[in-house]
Amino acid sequence: MKKAAAEEAVNRFVRDGMALGLGTGSTAYYAIRKIGEMVSAGCDFICVATSVQSENLARSLGIKTAELDEVGSLDVTIDGADEIDPDLQLIKGLGGALLREKIVAAATVKEVIVADGGKTVEKLGTKVPLPVEVLKFGHEHTARALRRFGCEPVLRMSGSDPFVTDGGNLIYDCRFGGIDRPFYLEMALDSVPGVVENGLFLNTACEAVVCDSGGTVKFMSEGVRGKREQDEIRMI
Ligand code: 5RP
Repeated sequence: MKKAAAEEAVNRFVRDGMALGLGTGSTAYYAIRKIGEMVSAGCDFICVATSVQSENLARSLGIKTAELDEVGSLDVTIDGADEIDPDLQLIKGLGGALLREKIVAAATVKEVIVADGGKTVEKLGTKVPLPVEVLKFGHEHTARALRRFGCEPVLRMSGSDPFVTDGGNLIYDCRFGGIDRPFYLEMALDSVPGVVENGLFLNTACEAVVCDSGGTVKFMSEGVRGKREQDEIRMI
């Protein structure tokens, strides 16, 4: 499912000569592999990776990589997601790369999400916790502030040590059991001292390519603009 979605997205949205963002995770992996095949066949891209892991993979496949500030905007980024709602709003970051992923997405003209069918939800926050990246300094205080939003923040571990992101920060996975007002929550989270970034990717994705267990590939496009605008107005 992941491979089918990723390869379909590359075939549909990637063209020779583009500046590309490379996502992170087990689905983005297949997109990077496919881009590597295009490079072997003579295509030329300049790519910005959203993690050290994806950068290493890209280089091993002969894909040219650059720092984000070395390129202008990116034409297309292909990245995974942990939850996708019907309006193409996302939760990302279970792979730990949310900070760079959000910066790269913001520099991208067309953000394309690739996923297996298990990632679609009616409401964000129902299947997975929301990852929140925080500074190490005072992180337990930051977690207490997060708890006030009605979640139970759990420090992400890697074996017996806290998981550390590429940016040197920690992640609290915050289970909300359904997020009613994602725009409001995003703004509230960003106002907490110590929070570096959160895994809500709102009005970020332009397209999603999702493959279900029967092998059917479905395309989702930017969603219902009116509804998004209403959400933003409610937030203000
Ligand atoms: C990493 C991410 C990934 O895109 C997300 O976790 C999906 O990963 P996978 O394709 O392995 O399910 O946000 O920070």
